[in-house]
Amino acid sequence: MKIGLLTSGGDCPGLNAVIRGAVLNGIKTYDYEFVGFRDGWRGVVEGDYMDLPRTKVRGLARQGGTILGTSRTNPFDGNGGPENIEIMLEKNGIDAIVAIGGEGTLAGAKRLADAGLPVVGVPKTIDNDLQATDYTFGFDTAVSIATDAMDRIRTTGESHHRCMVAEVMGRHVGWIALHSGMSAGAHAVLIPEQKVSMEQVSQWVKEVHDRGRSPLVVVAEGFIPEGFEEVMHDKGVEKDGRPRLGGIGEYVTHEIERITGIETRNTTLGHIQRGGAPTGFDRVLATRLGMGVVDMIHDKEWGKMVALQGTDIKRVDFSEALDGLKTVPQHRWEEAKVLFGR
Ligand code: F6P
Repeated sequence: MKIGLLTSGGDCPGLNAVIRGAVLNGIKTYDYEFVGFRDGWRGVVEGDYMDLPRTKVRGLARQGGTILGTSRTNPFDGNGGPENIEIMLEKNGIDAIVAIGGEGTLAGAKRLADAGLPVVGVPKTIDNDLQATDYTFGFDTAVSIATDAMDRIRTTGESHHRCMVAEVMGRHVGWIALHSGMSAGAHAVLIPEQKVSMEQVSQWVKEVHDRGRSPLVVVAEGFIPEGFEEVMHDKGVEKDGRPRLGGIGEYVTHEIERITGIETRNTTLGHIQRGGAPTGFDRVLATRLGMGVVDMIHDKEWGKMVALQGTDIKRVDFSEALDGLKTVPQHRWEEAKVLFGR
């Protein structure tokens, strides 16, 4: 059996660990061969791939990024589609495709599997917003990078008696903001799932400042304050009304300073959260998912992805994973809120 791996969508610490886990399990347990498609679905559509012998995955668990490269190409674009991909697989003697990616990637994988192709998936996103899996690898790394950054932001904030704002990733959900904010002891956490007015945020900031502390506000890039859509439209935003990456932290900072009079600074963490080596937790999770997906291929269970449920690696249908985004539930927000303000 020859298996083709691809990494697609935004990169994520742990992608290389998945590749290593899959290749080692496949070679050692089943005597399988592996190839890696270059740059996500583009490599599949164009039949562009590299061999992945055991020597190629040596030491990969601790390496950030993806040795295969990634792109946001859709498998149905251009010369794609099930018929052409099937011809490519036959021509190259490839028996199965493993798509390692987030919602968009897995949606493409599902369409191909529905058309009868031997496709399976591994969930990936630092945002942790995929259903049917308790955690995605990359999330723990992002939270720990953001926590470290906030610890640093706080010491300079305290020296200057300033309010500090940290903007973290999370286009549609606030998991990174919630966890890094709790971990760093933030005095307010602003997430896409919860509308909060800038007056309320400013009150939390003032209460903290009044008791002699330097307030720390964490904001997810997808947060839209109450009554904010209008303002963002005026400033020019993307079609769905979502703030541009890097926009909301500046806005929140400006508003806090305007309303409270407290000197405030913003730091947008951006792609630092996605770079570098994965944490130990993410290395283990990614390795287990890579190993699990090969076991699933061995059982010819197509149209599924591997997932972490509790402490076990399970197999779930693509449709289960693609049933809307996993957002931060109300009770998790209420829990965090106890720590805000005074
Ligand atoms: O992987 C998802 C994500 O981390 C989002 O939180 C963020 O908005 C996005 O990636 C940015 O990715 P890129 O700049 O690669 O489009």
